[in-house]
Amino acid sequence: MRLAVAISGRGSNLAALLAALPAGSPAEVALVLSNRATAGGLEVARQHAIPTLVLGEPADATAWLDALSEHRIDLVVLAGYLKLVPPAVVHRYRGRIINIHPALLPSFGGPGMYGPRVHEAVLALGATVSGATVHLVDEVYDRGPILAQARVPVLPDDTPETLAERVLELEHRLLPAVVLAAAAAGRPVPLPEPVGLPW
Ligand code: GRF
Repeated sequence: MRLAVAISGRGSNLAALLAALPAGSPAEVALVLSNRATAGGLEVARQHAIPTLVLGEPADATAWLDALSEHRIDLVVLAGYLKLVPPAVVHRYRGRIINIHPALLPSFGGPGMYGPRVHEAVLALGATVSGATVHLVDEVYDRGPILAQARVPVLPDDTPETLAERVLELEHRLLPAVVLAAAAAGRPVPLPEPVGLPW
């Protein structure tokens, strides 16, 4: 299964995915896209000799579709990609685009809910559990059908930073688990609850 990974930032989920997909795996990262030329994840891709593309206009569906077709992409993975995927791309790849979000959707999601804001909102509400969600992508931020969730406790002395770190560690195992299940099934599929992660 040929993957395109879209990023906007440092790319730690991309790095975790690459570590989980050594040579001979049923899936491979064949392209890395970003809306930011300065995204740290582009360097991660270059270190693995993976083709990269910086989207000059992230809303331009043609740029997306040309790149996905040129690299014969089967599955698009949003890993810290902060822009909406153009509707024409969602339409063409419906059911084959997934996103990871650092909270238990449908709570703490939607426009503007990314980075520390997510964890600040979780702490502000006094939630005792948080976690990560992988879902199918549609035309609206963080709304698509949920494929998998995993949970972590929120500790009394947590700050947005300490909570983010605990959730990120979980993300680095949840996203590869969903991708490997998709490679085995030929398309993204829900993971059984509770998600058996490689602890
Ligand atoms: C992750 O927490 C992801 O859930 C969110 O953006 C962050 C990206 O982190 N959508 P990284 O660039 O993969 O380190």
